[in-house]
Amino acid sequence: MTAGKFITLEGVDGAGKSTHLEFVADWLRRQGREVVVTREPGGTPLGETLRELLLHQHMDPDTELLLMFAARQEHLARLILPTLARGGWVLSDRFTDASYAYQCGGRGIATERIVALETWVQRGFRPDLTLLFDVPPEVAQARRSAAREADRFEREADDFFSRVRNAYLDRAQAEPARIRVLDARHSIAELQAEIGQLLQTLT
Ligand code: TYD
Repeated sequence: MTAGKFITLEGVDGAGKSTHLEFVADWLRRQGREVVVTREPGGTPLGETLRELLLHQHMDPDTELLLMFAARQEHLARLILPTLARGGWVLSDRFTDASYAYQCGGRGIATERIVALETWVQRGFRPDLTLLFDVPPEVAQARRSAAREADRFEREADDFFSRVRNAYLDRAQAEPARIRVLDARHSIAELQAEIGQLLQTLT
C-alpha cells in the first residue's frame, strides 16, 4: 500500500480556513481516501490539553513555542505518522508554518530556534500540500470580531496579524510548490473550485 499524504491549512485568524476544512475532507473521501481531520495545537489527548493552556494561559513566548512543538511531537508520533503509514490521508488545521508565522513573525522569536525545533521533531518531514488562505488584515479583523469570544491570539493587535500574514507570505514565496496561496476574499464557491484543482494534482 502506498503511504497517504499530508495536507495542511493555514492563514491568519479570520482568513476563513475552517470553512474549507470539511470541503477538502469530503473531496478526498469522494476519491475513496481514508481521511483523518485534525488540528494544531491539538489532535491528541495531551495535545488538546496543551492547546487549552496555549490559547488561554499567559506565558513567555519561548514557552509558547516549546509547547507548540511538544504538542506537535505527540501529534506526529501518535496520529499523523501512523495514519500516513497505513495509507490514510491527514488533513490538519495548521501545522509548523503557523509556528513560523505566529511565534517568529508575530512574537519575534529568531527563525533559527524554530528551524532547530523543526529539525528535531520532524527530521525533514513536511506537508505534501499547504493551502494558505490569505486576506488583507482589515478583512481578517472584521471576520474575527464577528466570531465567538476571542482567545489569547485573537486578542492581539492589528500589527501582530500583519506580521503573521507577511511571515506566511514569505514562506509561500520560499516554497511555492508546497504552499499554495488562495485569495480568501474570493467567494466560497470560487475557492472550492480552486482547491479542487490543487487537490487534483496530488491524487
Ligand atoms: P486556530 O486554528 O485559529 O483555532 P480556532 O479556529 O479554533 O480559533 O488556532 C489556534 C491558534 O493557535 C491560532 O491563533 C494560531 C495559534 N498557533 C500558533 O501560534 N502557532 C502554531 O504553531 C500553531 C499550530 C497555532
